[in-house]
Amino acid sequence: MLQGTNLIKDFRVRLGLFRGNANLRAVDNVSIAIQPGETVALVGESGSGKSTLGRMLLGLIPQTSGALSYRGTDFSQLQGDAQRQFRADVQAVFQDTSASLNPRRRIGDNVESPLIFNRRLSAQQARSESAQLLERVGLDPKTFASRFPHQLSGGQRQRVGLARALASQPKFIVADEPVSALDVSVRAQILKLMQELQAQDQLAYLFITHDLGVARLIAKRVMVMYLGAVVEEGNAADVFARPAHPYTHALTLAAPVPDPARARPARHLMGDIPSPLAPPTGCRFHPRCPYAQAICKTEVPPVREFENGHRSACHFAEQVRAG
Ligand SMILES: Nc1ncnc2c1ncn2[C@@H]1O[C@H](COP(=O)(O)OP(=O)(O)OP(=O)(O)O)[C@@H](O)[C@H]1O
Ligand SMILES: [Mg+2]
Repeated sequence: MLQGTNLIKDFRVRLGLFRGNANLRAVDNVSIAIQPGETVALVGESGSGKSTLGRMLLGLIPQTSGALSYRGTDFSQLQGDAQRQFRADVQAVFQDTSASLNPRRRIGDNVESPLIFNRRLSAQQARSESAQLLERVGLDPKTFASRFPHQLSGGQRQRVGLARALASQPKFIVADEPVSALDVSVRAQILKLMQELQAQDQLAYLFITHDLGVARLIAKRVMVMYLGAVVEEGNAADVFARPAHPYTHALTLAAPVPDPARARPARHLMGDIPSPLAPPTGCRFHPRCPYAQAICKTEVPPVREFENGHRSACHFAEQVRAG
């Protein structure tokens, strides 16, 4: 449905007085394909490029190079009706709902505006459909439609964010840390709601999260990013149970994913994530890697493929998988 091939995103950043500008490669040669109705989780530490990749797929920022297409049409060719369809089909839900909800408008109006402006419903139709949408996300319209966003809890606001996204009858939602600011019980409710909505509408999600437990719960497929690159991807259960990249392995140790079958010696992450302005040579993970050998400093690891589309870019993927 949506496809990105060899995507690169560079940002020009100012280094400071007399030090000029530099290129920061936030996304480095990432390919991704989203099928209708599927959930792909995108995980990785802060600064690994998850949101930047999500914003490119939403068409919010242009790629530096690489190709993006929606239903076989290149983004640059999406015009007129096709572009309007794309804007309706592909929606975003963010951690911070203030990015999507207008604080000065009532909840009802916030959900109605895409119905009026994108779907061209009459004011009366929009009112009744927005009430239905609020009900779908578990909010009583009689109680909530006339409130303002600041009068809701974080979990309630996130439900409104979902209702507003659903108003355009999307096919694909990029959800960027949608539950990260919520406490555990509310988080579980919102995840369950997102799964129900998905089953009803054949929605696809790109679910961005730094929480592996959430990724495992919600997604069939997972992609792990490190310093702008996808280092491992595959079926979420396979990847978390038998990581084939030391970075993923370290993430699972830092935040254990419940799985009694997995008992392996601890090999924790060493040091901090390097600056994306000066990424390490060879394998970008080598300075932090407990498996690193001489080859890792000089040669970019090729992608190795295991069963079920499980892929890893590591010179020693087999050893890592063997534990
Ligand atoms: N507009 C921008 N200009 C310059 N650099 C940027 C810009 N947006 C992002 N970056 C840089 O790109 C890199 C990736 O950022 P991104 O927001 O995609 O990471 P992330 O994986 O979403 O992190 P987090 O988990 O903290 O949200 C970071 O080094 C960030 O500083
Ligand atoms: Mg982010």
